[in-house]
Amino acid sequence: MDFKQALERTAQDVDALLDELLPLQAAAAPRLVQAMRYSALGQGKRLRPFLVRESARIFGADDTSALRTGAALECVHCYSLIHDDLPAMDDDALRRGKPTCHVAFDEATAILAGDGLLTFAFFILADAATHADAAVRTQLISALARDSGHEGMAGGQMLDLEAEERASHDEAEVLAVQNLKTGALFRFACEAGPILAGADDEARARMSAYARNIGLAFQIADDILDVEASAEELGKATGKDAAAGKATFIDLYGIEGARARASDLVAAAQESLSPYGEKADILRQAARFIIERRK
Ligand code: IPE
Ligand code: IPE
Ligand code: MG
Ligand code: MG
Ligand code: MG
Repeated sequence: MDFKQALERTAQDVDALLDELLPLQAAAAPRLVQAMRYSALGQGKRLRPFLVRESARIFGADDTSALRTGAALECVHCYSLIHDDLPAMDDDALRRGKPTCHVAFDEATAILAGDGLLTFAFFILADAATHADAAVRTQLISALARDSGHEGMAGGQMLDLEAEERASHDEAEVLAVQNLKTGALFRFACEAGPILAGADDEARARMSAYARNIGLAFQIADDILDVEASAEELGKATGKDAAAGKATFIDLYGIEGARARASDLVAAAQESLSPYGEKADILRQAARFIIERRK
């Protein structure tokens, strides 16, 4: 299987699992579940669950455990997108090729759909079906809580909004924003495999280094696509970051400088996989995809 096939398979599997875990039938609050399903099912590259699964495969962890962990992470990611699009944040009307959650429903429902998906992620991880060993489940819950909250994605989103108020940004600021808002969920994705497999600290450190480099490269690519791609191609609005005064590498070094930086990050990410030989080939291809993608 190559990278494209592995990503496609994960997209289908995540969709099927979330469909099963989030049934509309007999829901206590059907409108809320409808909004959660609207934002979590159907589209998205599913790159984060793919990374969980591949990092699990390298260390010999069970694939069902990895898929459930990836689906939990995807719930956190989809929540982050719903809230990121709200009028109080980036104020976007298009996501994954369709109206954003608050446009399709309303703001209050979108806030609640985000809350519902965030908390549901931890419900999935706490279930014994995710891993037989409660100590492993606790490690997953703790790591995802850290990487989603004030020391992770939510912290980064705060810094991202605060940066809009400043006229200029230095590299330390851009790194801090991007490592938290995007890098933290990538870190969880890549550490989840070693956690599920009970691998040693070195494995976790290597996967964390891989994640840090691809996470940063991923956000640089997202920022380049905001300048170069169309809304039709991307399924979300473009050309907004500069106008909003976002702290990006493009803002610091221009498009070509940012591209060169992203390419160096991919090489560094691939380097951290060197002990894993052929088993890590798909993750090496994933690193390249992250900067070459057009979506
Ligand atoms: C978008 O993430 C948000 C960022 C962190 C830049 P993705 O580009 O992975 O979005 P989907 O899940 O494929 O829609
Ligand atoms: C969002 O970054 C990162 C999140 C934590 C959701 P962006 O604001 O650049 O993501 P897009 O471009 O709206 O997908
Ligand atoms: Mg944003
Ligand atoms: Mg946004
Ligand atoms: Mg963006």
